[in-house]
Amino acid sequence: MYSYSKNTAQVVVVSNRGAYTFQEGHDQVIPRRTVGGLVAAVEPVLTAHGGTWISWCGRLDHSKEQGVKLGIPPGEPRYQIQEVFLTPEEHDHYYHGFCNAILWPLCHQLPERCSFEKAYWEAYRRVNQKFARITLEAKKEIYWIHDFHLALVPQLLRQQSPGAAIAFFWHIPFPPADLFQILPWGRQIIYGLLGSDLIAFHTSRYVENFLDTMSCYYPARIYPEQGLIRFRNRKILVQALPVGINYHRFEQLATDPAVRARAAEIRKSLGAEKVLLGIDRMDYTKGIPERIRAMACFLEKYPEYRGRVTLLQIAVPSRNGIGEYGILKQEVERIVGEVNGRYDQMYGAVPVRYRYQSLDQAELVAHYLAADVLLVTALRDGLNLVAKEFVASRIDGKGVLILSPFAGAAQELHGALLANPFEPAHLAAKIKMALEMSFQEQKSRLESLRRTVKSRDVRWWWQTNLKLVKSLGSGISPAAINAANL
Ligand code: F6P
Repeated sequence: MYSYSKNTAQVVVVSNRGAYTFQEGHDQVIPRRTVGGLVAAVEPVLTAHGGTWISWCGRLDHSKEQGVKLGIPPGEPRYQIQEVFLTPEEHDHYYHGFCNAILWPLCHQLPERCSFEKAYWEAYRRVNQKFARITLEAKKEIYWIHDFHLALVPQLLRQQSPGAAIAFFWHIPFPPADLFQILPWGRQIIYGLLGSDLIAFHTSRYVENFLDTMSCYYPARIYPEQGLIRFRNRKILVQALPVGINYHRFEQLATDPAVRARAAEIRKSLGAEKVLLGIDRMDYTKGIPERIRAMACFLEKYPEYRGRVTLLQIAVPSRNGIGEYGILKQEVERIVGEVNGRYDQMYGAVPVRYRYQSLDQAELVAHYLAADVLLVTALRDGLNLVAKEFVASRIDGKGVLILSPFAGAAQELHGALLANPFEPAHLAAKIKMALEMSFQEQKSRLESLRRTVKSRDVRWWWQTNLKLVKSLGSGISPAAINAANL
């Protein structure tokens, strides 16, 4: 159990999606767990210290703004979820529209995928106002807002509650200023964020991009060494604080005999001498088709590996209601068929094994242990926690991490092999290098990776965020920043 100093119970977390969705039951709602990086990062602080999580729980309603307030986890509640209802129109225009057809592709540097509809912006504003109204009712000491869905909330809270301590965490990449300014409502998004006392990102590059973008819209004094800006008589900290994982939990699972037995079973069932693994949400930013094509290129260039190596690709279902995601699924399934049709030897290892499903933590660790190489080759990714989980699970000192330089984690995880996901031949060469890497080298790379992941775990992450925002309530003191070990 994590521990933290007094008052953490006064936190209210606000995010579009929380740790549970609610389904209509007989006489009460049935909570179902969700998966995702944000949830894994945020839930530990609430579980340890209580508080309130304001989130949309998947239900649509025309007539009311708020749904149920429920103690979570059911049976032994540790914190409260306050459900926010979206209307069907908001779900369409705010979530599918502004969030997933504008901000998501834009921030992942794919502007050609954006649809800049004014109706989407209007719905985004309305939903942000709704979240802010509900948040203000919760009256807590610290408001901790998360992600691109709710960028206007900090300023809306600030207007109503000028003395509040407001922290914001942006979980996806923040793009270069030239790109962000394509957004017709970019100025309003930045202004919304500037209502916070602390704006945090995963990497220093995103911080730089944010500061550049902000300077294009608003005059502000910037102190880059301290990660501090002065904006309209307020001080705002802008920091790089990459999300961590529950390192000990992954290490613990990796020693569990049942998990190890399951890893051996997975390995055996694949019937391959060497196993490459990919685990991603089914999302066009993750580079799944590109990875499978690189596998084809690998088998083409290095035929001695045919029938000996399998790529096991797990694609976790995501954003099912959005057309592009369905098209991507079809594309992935078509490419898997194509590559297997071409390179299957009729004996030995199948080139690509593909599963479309989510895995619980024990299954995840069993898969990490069953693999020789993990491929995290996103075209663009805010951070990537799968890479960190793999590292924490490899207590045996074996395994190689191939990482895209376009994933935020590459700024932190120095022992990984970097590979450009846009260049199949380059990725194929890195796969070969990983498969042929000596145990000594694997071990020494993993040791350095494990040190990084362990020292910046999830507890470090939330403690630092909350420490910083609490210190700001009474004016920034450099001592507080030092105490947070930045
Ligand atoms: O990384 C951004 C994020 O919003 C995560 O919080 C979440 O895990 C993931 O994308 C999935 O998004 P959605 O809530 O749209 O399913």
